[in-house]
Amino acid sequence: MSVETPARPARPPRNLPLRRLLPMVVKAPLEGLTDVARAARGEIVRLDVGPFRPYLLSHPDHLQHALRADWTSYLRKGMFWKPVERLLGDSVIGDGPGWAASRKVLQPLFTARYVASLTDDMAATIDRGLDELTPDVPIDAMEEMNRIVTRAVVSVFFGDRISPREAEVLGAAYTTANTALPFRIALPFVPDRVPLPGDRRFMEARQTIDDVIYPLIRQARKERSDGPDIISALVRARDDEGRELTELNLRDDLASIYGAATETAAVALTWLWPILHDHPDVAARLYAEIDEVTGDGPVGADTLPRLRYLDTVLRETMRLYPAGWAMPRMVTRTHEIGGVTLKAGSQVLISPYITHRLDEFWPDPLTFDPTRFEGDREKRHRYSYLPFGAGPHLCLGQHLFFIEAPLLIAGLLKRFRPELVTEAPFPVQPAGTLRSRKKIEMILRRVTT
Ligand code: HEM
Repeated sequence: MSVETPARPARPPRNLPLRRLLPMVVKAPLEGLTDVARAARGEIVRLDVGPFRPYLLSHPDHLQHALRADWTSYLRKGMFWKPVERLLGDSVIGDGPGWAASRKVLQPLFTARYVASLTDDMAATIDRGLDELTPDVPIDAMEEMNRIVTRAVVSVFFGDRISPREAEVLGAAYTTANTALPFRIALPFVPDRVPLPGDRRFMEARQTIDDVIYPLIRQARKERSDGPDIISALVRARDDEGRELTELNLRDDLASIYGAATETAAVALTWLWPILHDHPDVAARLYAEIDEVTGDGPVGADTLPRLRYLDTVLRETMRLYPAGWAMPRMVTRTHEIGGVTLKAGSQVLISPYITHRLDEFWPDPLTFDPTRFEGDREKRHRYSYLPFGAGPHLCLGQHLFFIEAPLLIAGLLKRFRPELVTEAPFPVQPAGTLRSRKKIEMILRRVTT
């Protein structure tokens, strides 16, 4: 027998007034928002900031609704996405028909199988990058992770079409574009015509990216190679009507996936070093596993699946420090969720960083514990862990990441033991990705056998 329950009227959401929000935004925005969501126990909170007053969604049920069940009502449009559109155009990082067409073309290039076929090449490139690390002097972890990840990604994307010099220029331009954005991200309601700090650096970086990418596209179109690199594959791709992609499509897609593939992975890997320093037990178990699995041989396609503990360490690192910390959306249809009415045109903020720290879904959430990822994953709410997003916009690069990241970490730890130079704490800097506010410096000591 079912009992009819009267519909509950939608109630106003919890409100976080500007006087409480502002000091927090200035001091430690993401940590502050996390405290707010934890106190609200996953209820929807309205953030009283600027004219658009976004809603903060953190409960996994609400995320499931917005990212999967009703995802067409939550588009990647609106103020939060403006800076991204300025850099990347109408691409796979956007939404609507442009996104759908790009996703269709790109998806086959990032399947687990296709990416696995690139493992040996990636391993060789990463090895060369690791050989260039200098032991016994302080190094900037983010810079080095970025350098090695960029090399790996550059070879997957561009084959040998790009010179080391061009790759360096491209990498530096992305770093500039990413770090020039904090004001545009914090003040998304300010129109483009009103200049903000960082704008000029951003525009120059965009021009540099174009100056490198367009000639590569033109060269690839001339050559029409059947090589496995992404640029050749994109030149061969056809849309639904059998047409080639335009030069602009190619530029926007390449610029998007290149940016998505380098900065996020480098940031994710950089967080590992302070964590290992703080957890010598985890570090010791990791070193032992790498020794046991790889012995005197190299790290490669056959050893990766056996580095199980490393896999759990990576997943737990991305729980506490998800490089893609923000998934903003714009609501396109007025509807109710979690007892709150969201009006069409409202802005919504979803953050894996916040959801990954809710006590209801993660016992002792602030403790680093890789064993959470041993075996019983399905017991967890599916939308309580989403470092790569979820639903139709799920990250295309996660298979690539789970090859390049263990290759890099295991390769590095076979050669060196890291010693952290910078002292904790490491506050986060939520910009395009989740960087550390402080430079993370470490010294690598060569492993002696
Ligand atoms: C640790 C590394 C990475 C992290 C944490 C990460 C995170 C994410 C997240 C959270 C999203 C969802 C964005 C949203 O829903 O609004 C996303 C989408 C995406 N990622 Fe990644 N990503 C990583 C690596 C990569 C790599 C290596 C690639 C290279 C191909 C890549 C390509 C993309 C693309 C193309 C999308 C957009 C997919 C779509 O909307 O259809 N990502 N990523």
